[in-house]
Amino acid sequence: MIKPKIIVHGGAWDIPAHMHKMHTDGIEKALRKGIEILQKTNDPIETVIGIVCALEDDPTFDAGKGSFLNEAGQVEMDAGIMHGKDLSVGAVAAIQNIRNPIIIANLVREKTQHVMLTGDGALMFAKEQGVQPVDTIELLVGREKELYHDLLKEKDVKIKSFFEMKHPSDTVGAVVINSHGNIAAATSTGGTPFKKAGRVGDSPIVGAGFYADDTCAGVSTTGWGEGILRTLLAREAADQVLNGTSAHDAAKKSIAIMKKKVNGDAGLIIIDKTGDYAFDHNTPFMAVGAATIDGIDFVKISSR
Ligand code: GLY
Repeated sequence: MIKPKIIVHGGAWDIPAHMHKMHTDGIEKALRKGIEILQKTNDPIETVIGIVCALEDDPTFDAGKGSFLNEAGQVEMDAGIMHGKDLSVGAVAAIQNIRNPIIIANLVREKTQHVMLTGDGALMFAKEQGVQPVDTIELLVGREKELYHDLLKEKDVKIKSFFEMKHPSDTVGAVVINSHGNIAAATSTGGTPFKKAGRVGDSPIVGAGFYADDTCAGVSTTGWGEGILRTLLAREAADQVLNGTSAHDAAKKSIAIMKKKVNGDAGLIIIDKTGDYAFDHNTPFMAVGAATIDGIDFVKISSR
């Protein structure tokens, strides 16, 4: 039997000091929700969904409510989830008007023969499943409207720089292992500020934004999506564990490989099949927390 564990992130970027407490409060609340679900159900999928919904509902983070606006002034969100027991995956990309994209991603996993639905098709599927859409206005917060209007005035927006400077980028994610060693991973995001309409990042792409396989590890990533995608960061970390590397070293090595190959800026959380958890990031800060079934181990803004 394994001691059930949870690890959660709320983004890797240069989180300004005045936003540190909002981030740690949000992570702590999500962790407490996760502990409650895991104690009741021992179900890693239910637990990662509960955690990610709590983070999507918290306007602090760039996921669900609080998501960035794209270049066209829309809120398009991405989310993905994976069960390490059977490698089942569900994802949605560029979905609009949905409060909790991770729930739709999981419905794709459970109720369709597919791995991913996008855009209008994903929204149509959500409605078929009885999920009530929301107006975009309900997903917007003033902070993002202001940023959008500032960016509209800029001639040449450099999206990668958002991860190195004091601009928000708060993808959220969770990895959970239950007492049987079953692992689930989930990631949700509003993407990057001022992205092109239709742009899909790493978060809903299996192997990039998330990965879970009970034979090695579960991983959720955050940061500059294009760099994470090009190095399949989540799968890279899981493969490191498969090759005998510890969770701690796998996190560090994978981030270093990404940096070296594509000069990426990112963070990741990982739980290996023995229940060891770890995280690493090469951004100035990362919001992260972890717990066992008995309570919270830590919640912090990690600095590089
Ligand atoms: N990692 C979030 C994104 O680039 O969309």
